[in-house]
Amino acid sequence: TGLMSAAATSRLITGEAGNNVTPYIENLVGRGLHKKKDHPLGIIKAKIESYFNSLGDTQFEIVDSLDPLVKAQACFDDLLIPEDHPGRKPSDTYYVSRLGGRDVSSSEDLLLRTHTSAHQSMLMREGKEAFLCTGDVYRRDEIDASHFPAFHQMEGVKLFDPALVGGEMSREEWLESPGCKLVADDLKKTLEGMCDELFGPVEKRWIDEYFPFTEPSFELEIYYNGDWMEVLGCGVIHSGVLSNVGLQSRHGWAFGLGLERLAMVLFSIPDIRLFWTDDKRFHSQFKEGKITKFKPYSKYPPNYKDIAFWIPEGFEPNDFFEIGRGVAGELVEKMDLIDEFTNPKTGRTSHCYRITYRSMDRSLTDEEINKLQFALRDLVTEQLGVELR
Ligand code: PHE
Repeated sequence: TGLMSAAATSRLITGEAGNNVTPYIENLVGRGLHKKKDHPLGIIKAKIESYFNSLGDTQFEIVDSLDPLVKAQACFDDLLIPEDHPGRKPSDTYYVSRLGGRDVSSSEDLLLRTHTSAHQSMLMREGKEAFLCTGDVYRRDEIDASHFPAFHQMEGVKLFDPALVGGEMSREEWLESPGCKLVADDLKKTLEGMCDELFGPVEKRWIDEYFPFTEPSFELEIYYNGDWMEVLGCGVIHSGVLSNVGLQSRHGWAFGLGLERLAMVLFSIPDIRLFWTDDKRFHSQFKEGKITKFKPYSKYPPNYKDIAFWIPEGFEPNDFFEIGRGVAGELVEKMDLIDEFTNPKTGRTSHCYRITYRSMDRSLTDEEINKLQFALRDLVTEQLGVELR
């Protein structure tokens, strides 16, 4: 769509060791959807920001223009995420360069942030006491109506006055202290209020969670449209994260929420790809400050194609999905594993995937789809070493 800055383009281009950012992904960087006032993501962002800044006691600084290209240090190390965490694997994360080499992770590795928590430490080091930090994040993932390799998160952080919650103490002491309970209670009350603001009075439940960078950690779910829906992850900031940034005498909370998930239910948007469309029939429906229901324009018919192959050792489905994305862009709606079996004699395993091709704004021709499917067949053979059946 040509919306990416020239600087970003020349910066990301491949050639660096370990780069697994495809041109398709590269083109998503820099769109700034969350900063568009009349875009559903921008509307929700503004609503949440005004909620937090109406609470009175704390002014939350708005941060929404940080570069999505960050070091592994910021995205993982600063947050106490262990070396062997699956989120660090190149099968899950887009690396721009991996200085440590193929199987070694280095804190200098450059990657597309996988969550906005990647900025927590830097912003606290700068002395910010309360902030809302929003941006596009990137994860290699499966392909369906609710998964897209890029989405948007908002990170919230609030530090407390040590006179109120206590200062430097051992981690064990802190976890047992009334200060820790006060921070957790404030976190829960604030986020419940945010849900009521967005959804109206709504039933909620807290689930104990685990994140390496918060302790204790929770997940908030709301009961909406007859189902429990996960809204966000959060917790009391881990003492280790704070001492890493020189704030061993401070305490606070943090949360991270996905904007698409909220926007899809609030605006009744049925497919996550729609957030990225340029179609006027989408954009003309939304206005700053207003949450309105999306009226789907005619959905064009899907086209299905199956592909079956013998998988080699170490096969990563995400690599296959990525090739699909690279070949067909947003014309691929889903890639489903529909059959898997192992030949008892040879021990070889075969996967069959059904690809759903569909455009959001036009009918696709057979010719066009056959071309895509042939390109996909060629590329998976070449790049993944699979044997087509
Ligand atoms: N970064 C976490 C995620 O992406 C969410 C989170 C943010 C959890 C802040 C706790 C605190 O899943």
